[in-house]
Parts: sequence; C-alpha cells; structure tokens
Amino acid sequence: MIDASEHRIERSEGSAPQSLWTEHQALAASAERVELALRTLSIGGAGPATGPLAQDLLDEFRRRLLRHFELEERGGLLDGLAAAEPRFERRVAKLRSDHVEFRLRAAELEAEVIDGGWAVVHARFLVFRRDLAVHEQAENELLQRAHLEDIGGRG
Ligand SMILES: [Fe+2]
Repeated sequence: MIDASEHRIERSEGSAPQSLWTEHQALAASAERVELALRTLSIGGAGPATGPLAQDLLDEFRRRLLRHFELEERGGLLDGLAAAEPRFERRVAKLRSDHVEFRLRAAELEAEVIDGGWAVVHARFLVFRRDLAVHEQAENELLQRAHLEDIGGRG
C-alpha cells in the first residue's frame, strides 16, 4: 500500500497531478478483475468470450503495473527515500530490483496465457499478487518510517 497523502506525483507531461494512491487503487481493482476471470476459466465455468476478456484484462493489469512503477521511479519516491536516510539505500535498491523482476514476470504471465492452461495462469497470478503485496508492504513501511523519523527529528 502506498501512503498517497505524502506522495503526490506531478506528471512531467504537464497534466493534472497524479496520486500514487489513485494509481494503486486502480491497479488493485484491475488485479481483482484479472483474478476473477482467471478463476472462472480455471474451473471451467467460463463462456467463449472469457478467454479473450482475461487476456485483455491481464494486458491492462500489466500496463497499469508498469505505469505504477514508472510513477514511483520517475516521480522521485524511491530517490527521496534513499536520499532521506543513507541506511535506507539497500532497501530502496531491493525495491528497485523488485520492479525489474515484476516487469519480467508480468510479461511472462501474458506469455503463459498462450502457452499454458488457465489453471496454471491462475495459480501464477495468485503468487504474483502475493509477492506484489509483500513488495508494496515493504515500500509502505519504509515510507512510514521515513515520515515518522522526519516528524520525530523536527520535534
Ligand atoms: Fe514499488
């Protein structure tokens, strides 16, 4: 989870301010739609349109995920954390490498739709969501810690 109240990101294109929280909520809703479609397909309860729908939903999820990571990286969130406290550097580096790994895994998930059965894709997506939640929890904890220590430092 991302603490949006502290991290509004200005888009470089000059469009309206974009909240990471809003992006995060949209990403979570997108993941929920993918999971529902994949679950339906994996138990064989889907109609003929569900397969293409799941592919579209998975592609939408991947694009939202890339956008989310881009906001975190280009918006200065991770740089800000590393700059705030040098001892956060290793954890920030881990978060960055997580992003690289998640990008690859998201692309692999889409390839699985072509190569694998729906049950396999569903199972992999569940693991992906679980790992992403762990990543986001670590990110949020670091943000909260940086924020609390900043407040404590001023007190
Ligand atoms: Fe992240």
